[in-house]
Amino acid sequence: MTKLYNVAVVGATGAVGEQIILQLEQSDLPIATIKFLSSPRSAGSTLSFKGKPVIVEEATPESFTAIDIAIFSAGGSISAELAPEAVKRGAIVIDNTSHYRMAEDVPLVVPEVNEDALRQHHGIIANPNCSTIQMVAALEPIRQQYGLKRVIVSTYQAVSGAGNLAIDELYTQTQAVLNNEPVEATILPSAGDKKHYQIAFNAIPQIDVFGEDDYTYEEHKMINETKKNHGRCKP
Ligand SMILES: NC(=O)c1ccc[n+]([C@@H]2O[C@H](COP(=O)([O-])OP(=O)(O)OC[C@H]3O[C@@H](n4cnc5c(N)ncnc54)[C@H](OP(=O)(O)O)[C@@H]3O)[C@@H](O)[C@H]2O)c1
Repeated sequence: MTKLYNVAVVGATGAVGEQIILQLEQSDLPIATIKFLSSPRSAGSTLSFKGKPVIVEEATPESFTAIDIAIFSAGGSISAELAPEAVKRGAIVIDNTSHYRMAEDVPLVVPEVNEDALRQHHGIIANPNCSTIQMVAALEPIRQQYGLKRVIVSTYQAVSGAGNLAIDELYTQTQAVLNNEPVEATILPSAGDKKHYQIAFNAIPQIDVFGEDDYTYEEHKMINETKKNHGRCKP
């Protein structure tokens, strides 16, 4: 008999969570139950899954009782706090945040590139940053055929990469510019940064905050995650 899985999505109300739900709806993963988790802010709101309403619940350690697969996309600090609680309760965690990506005992997996690494998990499986995933999926066949010495990368990223608040900011600023009103910037290029710039009718040459070496964390993620991922590729 086909095993059915109890699945939880942490950060279900976010920009990424919305896409995870769509992917789960379209996948043939045999799902018995689905749980949508968020912060207290969205708890009690209703989302839908395959045409049926699902009430969003606040994510707590107890949320993961009897869950088989927990997909986390609510920020690194939430994964740090709740992923071990989910594993403790028997779930396999797929973590979409950066929190566990470079951890020694956590495989960093892009299925088209190094699905074998999935066998090495101890409860948590990480996936790389979105730009890294796309890049290594395209580069891996070339690496296998010819080898690679060096990769020079430029990315052009949508505001949606910075979450729902960034999408709202672009919308509000665009309206303000078109109405000839003052523009307020509070989120982009990174909510965690001290300085913010207008994104409407603009392109900001910065993704994430700068590290001490003047590279941004996004740039570091692409370099480090590609190397870790590459190290686990099939020869
Ligand atoms: N791997 C990748 O390629 C990639 C790309 C983009 C983002 N990400 C990761 O995905 C995360 C979410 O990104 P996003 O763009 O979806 O952000 P977002 O639109 O701001 O959504 C954040 C989500 O996290 C939930 N959340 C916030 N605080 C929480 C808490 N204390 N407990 C439980 N849930 C909480 C929010 O719930 P409420 O609705 O209640 O606020 C919301 O569902 C990011 O932080 C990043 O780590 C990964």
